[in-house]
Amino acid sequence: MFHVILFCWCWWSLMAVFGSESVSVTEGESVTLHMNITEQQRKDGISWKFGPTDNKSLIAEIKDGNNAIKLYAYRPDGRFRDSLKLDQTGSLTITNTRITHSGLYQITTSNHEELLNKIFNITVYTRLPVPVIIRDSSQNSSSSSVSNCSVLCSVMNVTHVSVSWYKGKSLLSNISVSDLNISSISLHLVCLDDSYTCVINNSITNQTQHLNTDVCHKCSDVSEDYICSCGFTEAVIRLVISALVGVATVAVLVYDVKSRGDEQKKRSDTQIK
Ligand SMILES: *[C@@H]1O[C@H](CO)[C@@H](O)[C@H](O)[C@H]1NC(C)=O
Ligand SMILES: *[C@@H]1O[C@H](CO)[C@@H](O)[C@H](O)[C@H]1NC(C)=O
Ligand SMILES: *[C@@H]1O[C@H](CO)[C@@H](O)[C@H](O)[C@H]1NC(C)=O
Ligand SMILES: *[C@@H]1O[C@H](CO)[C@@H](O)[C@H](O)[C@H]1NC(C)=O
Ligand SMILES: *[C@@H]1O[C@H](CO)[C@@H](O)[C@H](O)[C@H]1NC(C)=O
Ligand SMILES: *[C@@H]1O[C@H](CO)[C@@H](O)[C@H](O)[C@H]1NC(C)=O
Ligand SMILES: *[C@@H]1O[C@H](CO)[C@@H](O)[C@H](O)[C@H]1NC(C)=O
Ligand SMILES: *[C@@H]1O[C@H](CO)[C@@H](O)[C@H](O)[C@H]1NC(C)=O
Ligand SMILES: *[C@@H]1O[C@H](CO)[C@@H](O)[C@H](O)[C@H]1NC(C)=O
Ligand SMILES: *[C@@H]1O[C@H](CO)[C@@H](O)[C@H](O)[C@H]1NC(C)=O
Repeated sequence: MFHVILFCWCWWSLMAVFGSESVSVTEGESVTLHMNITEQQRKDGISWKFGPTDNKSLIAEIKDGNNAIKLYAYRPDGRFRDSLKLDQTGSLTITNTRITHSGLYQITTSNHEELLNKIFNITVYTRLPVPVIIRDSSQNSSSSSVSNCSVLCSVMNVTHVSVSWYKGKSLLSNISVSDLNISSISLHLVCLDDSYTCVINNSITNQTQHLNTDVCHKCSDVSEDYICSCGFTEAVIRLVISALVGVATVAVLVYDVKSRGDEQKKRSDTQIK
């Protein structure tokens, strides 16, 4: 008898420590802790408790009162105002979740005949804001601003998120925002096409902002000369080379026309003969 009790107690404790099932949800959504209790367990009664192991409060239960099985949902501290629903299967639904609903939820049988003890660990994540992209005006030195456009992607009032720059599907850079102070990441561009995005994510969801084409020069608008911030001598050399190429082209053309003319002349000469 003693051994059985000890065994049960150990199993019970182990369940409480290791048996928790993780559930993640985004703030505002609802979440259901699925159960499928037996008829016997329903008759015996079950209870849902919320909170740390040393301070759990009863939030819902199924009780057999006056030969009718009844479902109850409580609000121990206003946290669960109208957000709890319990059904016949023992499943508990929390509608309109809030950050304060994060924590451990334990379902147990009131009667130990058909043991039931399951723990869910709910984590409610904040709704992610859409990141904001601005021109980084601290970076514009007059010489580089034409060919080097710096932009900042920032997030406000969120922590425990990653902020990343992507070009198409490839990751360019990322930071982890763990305190409210460090919350922007910069990107340096020569010119812009519409494939750049800034993404904020936590482990369950993400938000994306496309880099707006007003902020930097579009690649399609930027001519070769515009990108090349060439010096005077380079410009002169380019000019001379262009001129030489031009002259050479003309020379070749003239020669070509002339030689064709000569050939024609020769041919007509032979015909006359
Ligand atoms: C619940 O359990 C019973 C038997 O214990 C089974 O017949 C039934 O299909 C289960 N329902 C669900 C939704 O899992
Ligand atoms: C226990 O939980 C209740 C309600 O959740 C709370 O009001 C109370 O302050 C907690 N007590 C301790 C010692 O943490
Ligand atoms: C519950 O889940 C959160 C997030 O995954 C984790 O930080 C926490 O340690 C878990 N708590 C327990 C008691 O397992
Ligand atoms: C950068 O340029 C913007 C306008 O293009 C200007 O408002 C800003 O003051 C400049 N910043 C610096 C540090 O020069
Ligand atoms: C643009 O300017 C930043 C800071 O001035 C510099 O770190 C970066 O290397 C430059 N990028 C290019 C492509 O010139
Ligand atoms: C960030 O939080 C502060 C204080 O809580 C608030 O004044 C500010 O408006 C918030 N900013 C955004 C973008 O939500
Ligand atoms: C940056 O991205 C890499 C690759 O996806 C990932 O392994 C790393 O955890 C990320 N770091 C941060 C701070 O998000
Ligand atoms: C964040 O910045 C504020 C001032 O802007 C400063 O008082 C605070 O200590 C900073 N926090 C951290 C964690 O660096
Ligand atoms: C963001 O997503 C990346 C991979 O997609 C992941 O490595 C990273 O841990 C996520 N950030 C957070 C804060 O969970
Ligand atoms: C953002 O989340 C969606 C699904 O929610 C996923 O398909 C996409 O790959 C994620 N994007 C990034 C950059 O992690």
